[in-house]
Amino acid sequence: MAETGAIPSPAETGAILSLASRLAREAGAIQRARWGTELEISTKSADVDLVTEVDRACEDLIVQGIGQLRPNDSILAEEGGGRERPGAAWRWVIDPLDGTTNFAHGYPCFCVSIGVEHEGETRVAAVYNPVMDELFHAVRGEGAFRNGERIRVSKETRLDRALVATGFAYDRRKSERDNLDELAAFLGRARAIRRDGSAALDLCAVACGRLDGYWEFKLAPWDVAAGRLIVTESGGRVSDGSGGPAPASGREMVASNGHVHDAMIETLAAAARGETPEKER
Ligand code: IPD
Ligand code: CA
Ligand code: CA
Repeated sequence: MAETGAIPSPAETGAILSLASRLAREAGAIQRARWGTELEISTKSADVDLVTEVDRACEDLIVQGIGQLRPNDSILAEEGGGRERPGAAWRWVIDPLDGTTNFAHGYPCFCVSIGVEHEGETRVAAVYNPVMDELFHAVRGEGAFRNGERIRVSKETRLDRALVATGFAYDRRKSERDNLDELAAFLGRARAIRRDGSAALDLCAVACGRLDGYWEFKLAPWDVAAGRLIVTESGGRVSDGSGGPAPASGREMVASNGHVHDAMIETLAAAARGETPEKER
């Protein structure tokens, strides 16, 4: 274990990456096997916020796997199976199944997301998409990769030629902050919008150039822990909705190739000012 305040050794970081990658693949194998089968589905914070036995099985596998090799690390896991270890240098932030609504409907867009912080700074990230058999990973300062090949963000500089994605929080029927004004603003300015239903995969899509940008509000730490590092290590930019630092809480997330970032922030500001796009004549 690294000393408090010290930069972790390459050997320790490498061991964490290989454990995170293995556990992401193993949990992904459960998802691949259960995808499209009969599932026990229940609801959480709202009747549109789902959880299945596969979310829990994946979390159990990952938490047990960490516990066997790294019993002193802290773990924050979405379904509550983690454990805080006060004073631990390393903390694992886990979304065992990101894209549960897609998974429950058999829609092929879901993943396992694991970000690992050292002294509060994310150092290692692994996101596994079991349908595409794509493992995205990043190590701080060493770049981002898909199945071992280096990835980079797109080169698009114009928002009107950009493909961007977003998402809508589970409280959207109750909350005024439902992302609809922002959606209207982006529909008027970007080439097209996607709503893929997995924040971690949206961030990986920005990282490898499939998307030029992505924004969403009210995410959770486990949605963004891995994807944030994968975007920045692929040359992209992440921020909050005003262009400031992207909070680890996931409260606000704007991610892009960097070139269209300022135009995205301005689009969010236009939405906040109540400006609606004018029709072309
Ligand atoms: C959700 C997905 C979705 C995003 C939601 C998340 P879950 O995670 O990432 O794309 O719009 O805000 O909560 O519930 O499928 O793990
Ligand atoms: Ca999630
Ligand atoms: Ca989840």
